[in-house]
Amino acid sequence: MSRLGRDFFTGSSGVRIAASILAADLSRLGEELKAVEEGGADLIHIDVMDGRFVPNLTFGPVVVEAIRRSTRLPLDVHLMIVEPERHLESFVRAGADMISVHVEASLHLHRTLRAIRALGVSPCVALNPATPPQMVEWVLEEVDGVLVMTVNPGFSGQEFIPQVLPKIRWLQEQIASRGLPVAIEVDGGLNDSTIPAVVEAGATIVVAASAIFGSPHGPARAISRLREAALMAARKEGGR
Ligand code: DX5
Ligand code: ZN
Repeated sequence: MSRLGRDFFTGSSGVRIAASILAADLSRLGEELKAVEEGGADLIHIDVMDGRFVPNLTFGPVVVEAIRRSTRLPLDVHLMIVEPERHLESFVRAGADMISVHVEASLHLHRTLRAIRALGVSPCVALNPATPPQMVEWVLEEVDGVLVMTVNPGFSGQEFIPQVLPKIRWLQEQIASRGLPVAIEVDGGLNDSTIPAVVEAGATIVVAASAIFGSPHGPARAISRLREAALMAARKEGGR
């Protein structure tokens, strides 16, 4: 088991909220991290983009390393890059606790996931909205999480794509019927109105950037509103 331990991923302790720094005020990153940590975020989600797999460019290991020094929260590194296997070690050295690689960007997915596990961190596999969930069916034993994109990766502030809901349900059924300790993380366009549907479908980690850092009520209030919305939906679903 990797640094975070099995319980972190089973969903038994409720839905986790991951604050994505993509919408943070990066000129005050230290303060923004402090605000979400004090506001009750469970994870810091870091979107790494290479200008090839996705049109945008963002952060590399040096930024992850600076974030590592500024928060105690686990770091959830979402690699939206081609050939992610070339950079795993740098991100682990920088302080990642979870690393997601895209199925569309990993030719030898099984090998890459094993390599992440061997480096002592949690391997996760990410899926674009158009990618069928069956693409990860035979690697579910290898991962601690599946990251289901609910927007096309590249930017924060986009609109949630509801067509991905059956995909979350399919994954939830697979994971439950096979008794696997695998989290379902959802990412993109999530706010208090879109969270209920993803949690009802089976999501256990919710990523949010603009709903947290762009909220007029401030990050702490935003996080508790997201958590409330998630809790209500989870209760409806029988306490997942
Ligand atoms: C999109 C990123 C997301 C993004 C979410 O490519 O993977 O993590 O930061 O942003 P919001 O929550 O604003 O849709
Ligand atoms: Zn992301």
